[in-house]
Amino acid sequence: MAETNTIEVENISVTFAGGVQAVAGISLKLSVGETLGLVGESGSGKTTLAKALVGLNRPESGRVVVEGRDLTGLTRADRLWLRRRVQMIFQDPLSSLSPRFTIRKLLAEPLAIHGLNAKERWPAVLDLMARLGLSEAQLDKFPHQVSGGQARRVAIARALVIDPSFLIADEPTAGLDVSVQGELLNLLSDLQQRFSLGILIVSHNLNVIGRVTDRVAIMYLGKVVEEGPTRAVFRAPRHPYTRALLSANPVIDPEHKRKKIVLSGEIPSPSKPPAGCRFHTRCPNVQPRCLVEEPQLTEAENGRRYACHFPLESAA
Ligand SMILES: Nc1ncnc2c1ncn2[C@@H]1O[C@H](COP(=O)(O)OP(=O)(O)OP(=O)(O)O)[C@@H](O)[C@H]1O
Ligand code: SF4
Ligand SMILES: [Mg+2]
Repeated sequence: MAETNTIEVENISVTFAGGVQAVAGISLKLSVGETLGLVGESGSGKTTLAKALVGLNRPESGRVVVEGRDLTGLTRADRLWLRRRVQMIFQDPLSSLSPRFTIRKLLAEPLAIHGLNAKERWPAVLDLMARLGLSEAQLDKFPHQVSGGQARRVAIARALVIDPSFLIADEPTAGLDVSVQGELLNLLSDLQQRFSLGILIVSHNLNVIGRVTDRVAIMYLGKVVEEGPTRAVFRAPRHPYTRALLSANPVIDPEHKRKKIVLSGEIPSPSKPPAGCRFHTRCPNVQPRCLVEEPQLTEAENGRRYACHFPLESAA
């Protein structure tokens, strides 16, 4: 039964011209009121998956169901409805903010597009700006006249002025100073609570993910290899790739003194992923079975899922 307060991704695949299968059969669920993190090396398909959730990438198989409605074959009117429910902040926020518009205009535009009364809504817009630490004096500036952190806040405000249920944030803190990153993450947490948003945060940065997400999904070459409550996954990863990612990050678990696992070899091309387990060319625990049989993402204890024939011990 489709739920009305979720985005459900059911076994979707997205292949680009040239045969790059950027997303290769992924199922995920994002509920209102929760923050889900999406992690993985560059090229693992995070942005491609994120864009499928807002209808910008059409999966060639599987389906995305937003609040009970299947996105396949949406009409024009349905697309407007979708944008109202699910907003995305893009990886490069400046490129998504027209340089010819003032911040005032950038914030008013989404209201106009959705036929909302700007006058009526303006106090809420100002309230949102204040929450985001943007002053009224900034309304008449252009995006390139404010700092990178402020431009990011404008992009967030622009996404939230129409009151969506879901926010998809692609690398929201990339390129910002650590202190600005922290402020921005606090803001996202505040806004999430206030508006009861479902948030998907895409990030390379495990400290960011560890700090603000309830659940995390780890991607490798177009697949989710592990998923579960962030704290449990970070404390005791079951997939060797997750462990390798975490081991490279001393901040996550300094007491644990995990031995750093250096992954040998480059990430293979998504146009010809390795047979069997896609991670077998780099896995420190590879066995003969891994070369021929693809492990499926299977349900395990405490709402966790992982795809490995030889999962790590839970106390590893
Ligand atoms: N429009 C496109 N046309 C062709 N190939 C694409 C397109 N967009 C992405 N790809 C390819 O799909 C794969 C996944 O790309 P994607 O941008 O989703 O990765 P990502 O995980 O977001 O990486 P990053 O961390 O660098 O942002 C890559 O091999 C990329 O080159
Ligand atoms: S299935 Fe095999 S190769 Fe793949 S992650 Fe598990 S142990 Fe490593
Ligand atoms: Mg990306």
